Amino acid sequence: MGEWISIRRNPLIPARAWKNYLQHSFQWRMFNNGCRPPSSAMSNYLDRIGAGLIVDDAAPFNFDFLPPELVMRDEELAKFATMMSAVVSQSGSSTAIVTGFVGTGKTALVMRFCEDVSRRFRDRRKIRSVVVNCRNASTKPEVLRNIVQFLDPRHPDRGLGSGEMLSSVRKMLRFSGEHLIIVLDEVDHLLRRSGDDILYKLLRIDEGHKDHGTLSLILISQEQTLDFLEDAVISRFGRTNQLRLKRYDEAGLMAIARQRAGLGLVDGSYDDGILRLVAQAAADISDARVVIELLEGAAKRAELAGRSVIEPKDVQAVSNLQPTHLEGIEVDDLPPHCMMVLLAVCRRLKTVNEIATGDVDSIYKVICEEFGVGAKGHTTLWKHLKRLEDSGILVARSSTISHGRGRTQFFSMPDALPTNIEGRLETLIPARLRR
Ligand SMILES: Nc1ncnc2c1ncn2[C@@H]1O[C@H](COP(=O)(O)OP(=O)(O)O)[C@@H](O)[C@H]1O
Ligand SMILES: [Mg+2]
Repeated sequence: MGEWISIRRNPLIPARAWKNYLQHSFQWRMFNNGCRPPSSAMSNYLDRIGAGLIVDDAAPFNFDFLPPELVMRDEELAKFATMMSAVVSQSGSSTAIVTGFVGTGKTALVMRFCEDVSRRFRDRRKIRSVVVNCRNASTKPEVLRNIVQFLDPRHPDRGLGSGEMLSSVRKMLRFSGEHLIIVLDEVDHLLRRSGDDILYKLLRIDEGHKDHGTLSLILISQEQTLDFLEDAVISRFGRTNQLRLKRYDEAGLMAIARQRAGLGLVDGSYDDGILRLVAQAAADISDARVVIELLEGAAKRAELAGRSVIEPKDVQAVSNLQPTHLEGIEVDDLPPHCMMVLLAVCRRLKTVNEIATGDVDSIYKVICEEFGVGAKGHTTLWKHLKRLEDSGILVARSSTISHGRGRTQFFSMPDALPTNIEGRLETLIPARLRR
């Protein structure tokens, strides 16, 4: 018979991660005839999937996950709540339009508001909300069918015309006495395909029943497609009822990454440097969705490699896969000393997230020796770093603390794998120096 070995849990590792760690580290299984190694023919290749070394809960990475709180949107939420304030009064109703680029959190903000308002005021009024994505339901009957089905999942909708469905909606709302917030997300698809007739039909649903605001309407659209909403719709809704969401800056993206990591990843499996790299990689398109995808991708990549900590190379590898990012970095045309500066950066970034200017300088000097050329002065080094930053190869961050003379800059390379660039530079530099 085999013996039981007791292993005390490291208190710094959460129980669930520890269990997974043990399962991974001790691949020997107990059978009634003693210990023997597991058969390699078993599905060992699946062991790392869902192992929980890093991803503690996958739900926060789902595209339809609504975070319990939105970060850095307090002002916008307050503004939106003001626009929608009539929904909390007994017979009131509101209309509003939310616009902004992809990934500015339009859908999240509206859904957060709808949930919060119905919970907070549940003693005053029964408020429910239905979100119809008009990318999928882009015609009037499809939108109405979604609403009818929401109000009554067993409602026979087949063969009903739009008019009949509208009167069903009207009847059901009157009967239930509840207030319904209809959210038409990505409404430009509907407007393009079916026109704006349905909006007016919905807005008129209470006609003839004064003091009975049974329905509110929220439209969501991308900023660029606002022309579909122009004039007619916007003037009807009132320009003051339009909320424009600004793009997130790097700090905002990092805050979103931090929140999502806190919700879904094992403590200690990432640090600020990783979150910053993720934010930097998403910064040029400024899409919160990209932040979440990169974080999850990097976590899975590290897990698959059997590690319990995300490393810079995980973020670099997954951000490389993002089609919206730099395709191949143009290093071939750089002057030789600029290449050597970049080589210095690459060598260090294989193991850390970012490198300070002073460290670039010392590694650069070693590299010059390696290639048998004299190192250039500090001003030239700065010039090259600036050039690398301007061309989008490096991302710079100034430290908040100043060290002696002037501020220190830190450089990272979120869009490429340092090892790949290093290899290319090592063959390019000698050829370029010989010319
Ligand atoms: N302020 C925020 N705080 C937390 N998560 C956010 C925030 N803004 C956006 N997100 C998340 O980013 C993703 C994209 O947001 P979404 O609302 O779908 O953007 P949009 O509708 O503008 O394209 C979603 O997963 C959302 O939960
Ligand atoms: Mg959306």
